[in-house]
Formats: sequence, C-alpha cells, structure tokens
Amino acid sequence: MAAVPRYSGKVVVVTGGARGIGAGIVRAFGVHKGAAEAAPQVRRTRNFSPSLLAVDSGAQVVFCDKDEAGGRALEQELPGTVFVRCDVTQEGDLQTLISETLSQFGRLDCVVNNAGYHPPAQWPEETSAQDFRQLLELNLLGTYTLTKLALPHLRKHRGNIINISSLVGTIGQSQAVTYVATKGAVTAMTKALALDESRYGVRVNCISPGNIWTPLWEELAASTSDPSATILEGTLAQPLGRMGQPAEVGAAAVFLASGATFCTGLELLVTGGAELGYGRKSTRSSLVETPILPP
Ligand SMILES: NC(=O)c1ccc[n+]([C@@H]2O[C@H](COP(=O)([O-])OP(=O)(O)OC[C@H]3O[C@@H](n4cnc5c(N)ncnc54)[C@H](O)[C@@H]3O)[C@@H](O)[C@H]2O)c1
Repeated sequence: MAAVPRYSGKVVVVTGGARGIGAGIVRAFGVHKGAAEAAPQVRRTRNFSPSLLAVDSGAQVVFCDKDEAGGRALEQELPGTVFVRCDVTQEGDLQTLISETLSQFGRLDCVVNNAGYHPPAQWPEETSAQDFRQLLELNLLGTYTLTKLALPHLRKHRGNIINISSLVGTIGQSQAVTYVATKGAVTAMTKALALDESRYGVRVNCISPGNIWTPLWEELAASTSDPSATILEGTLAQPLGRMGQPAEVGAAAVFLASGATFCTGLELLVTGGAELGYGRKSTRSSLVETPILPP
C-alpha cells in the first residue's frame, strides 16, 4: 500500500521561493515529488545523501518572489506549484498572494516566511539608519505583515507559521549589527505570537539556519577580499565540516508543519552544530594578562 504523503491536502505559502533556502522549502513541500528526484542539484556530501531527504509531503505550494524570471523558471520545473510575483515589503502584493492562494485552493494551512537579505559585512560606523529601516521592512515587517494577513485563514484549520530566522539572531555575528537585530526580532516575535495564537490552535515556530550554501552566501563570499578563504571559514564553522543545503532546511520545515504537532514557539537550529563548543573569538594574538586565581 502506498504511504499517504505527510502533508497531503494542505496548502502552503512560501516567500522568497525562487532560489536558495526558499526553493529548497518549495521542493520539500511539493506535490508527490521526492526531494531527491525533484532537486537534481542536491549533492551527495559527507553526512548527507539526498535520498535521506526523500520528502513527499504532497502539499499544494504557492510561492512568491520579487524575482519574476527565477520564480517562473522554478514553477515550470515543478508542475503543481504556483508562483505569484510579490515583493514582501509591499502590503498590496501580500494581499494578492493570499487572495490568489485562496481563490486557487480555497484554504491555507501553513505560511513559511523565508524572504530575507544579509548585507555584506559592515562595521557599525558603516551602517545607516536608512539601510537599517529597509532591512527591517524586508526581514521583519514582511514577516509580520504576511502573518497578520494569513492568520484569519490559518485559524480556520489550526494551521502553522514557520519563520526563517537565523542562528546569529541568538548568538550574534561580527560586522552584522543590523542583520542580527532583524533576525533576533524574528525569533522573539515567533515566541510571542506562539503564545497569542495558541488559543486558536495555530502553532508558530522558527528555523534558525547556520551556514547554508545558497546564491546569497556565494554572493556575500564574492564581496570579500578572499572569497575562497571566506568559504573555507564558513565551511569549517560547523563540527560536521560542511555547509548545509537548502533541501535540509526544507526537510526541517516539513517536519515542523506536519510532524511537530506538540511544538510551538520553538527555535529549531539547522546549523550542523556551529553554535557548539568554544572557539577563537578575540582578535588579540597574545596573552595580555595571565589569569590568576583569587586567594
Ligand atoms: N544562507 C544562509 O546561510 C542563511 C543562514 C541563516 C538565515 N538565512 C535566511 O534564510 C533566508 C533565505 O536566504 P538565502 O540564503 O536562501 O537567500 P537568497 O538570496 O539565496 O534567496 C532569497 C530569495 O528571496 C527573494 N527575496 C528577496 N527580497 C524579497 C522581497 N522583498 N520580496 C520577495 N522575495 C524577496 C530573493 O529574490 C531570493 O529569491 C533569508 O531570510 C536569510 O536571512 C540564510
């Protein structure tokens, strides 16, 4: 007897789904397609085989992106998915995203707020209030606005929200004050909303990825003086010795939506263990004072 897909009959909206982590999530939720077969670019690496992620969740997926060409290309590649062009900083676009979803599928079960951006490394004095405001509009208010529009529909089916935050929202990151602040806020908002929505049975969780190899990561590395060294550093930050893949975040999202029925307000780390243990954090190269024990 064929297994029933894990999220069959459910309708999922994913933002920023044209590439990177968002595309990994779209593929993982997609209709009757295993991640291994639907994601030919998913590579077999140390500790990771695409067949381990043979997600067949069977959901209807509507995904949006501000990149129309990228979104249409993925829609073509994954029959059964629906692409809606939408900039998550524009409330009117988000209203269209919800109304298109409802008119095509009649219900909404899960929203994945993924669209976001990490600026190139910048010291605090290089940041500006104007750039910070724009980043908040994308990384935080985009999530807030879509969530508000979706909640009345999610409440009808005891649905759930998954916010894509970041490990650095909890542990910090050098030369990334504004980005870290936006993601810390996403994690905090996830927990507060989980409390408020529990009375409707709506679960609200977030995934905090560590280093996931995506076009954004590649672009950020290219903006540094030594891209190869940056990529090596990003790779060695994980005890598992590699970066994560978008399909692995996709599998975590399917788990939160379909299997984690007693989890709300959770921050699920998908990091390869990057936060574990001590590491070299100071820029000093020699001991300035010998530690002494109190008498
Ligand atoms: N890659 C990582 O290592 C990593 C780690 C932690 C968190 N994250 C988070 O994961 C999310 C995805 O990151 P990624 O690495 O896949 O990035 P990416 O740039 O590769 O993909 C992001 C997608 O979002 C879309 N997008 C950007 N702004 C948009 C807007 N205003 N409206 C609609 N779509 C928009 C882009 O067009 C793109 O398709 C982001 O929220 C990011 O902060 C990434």
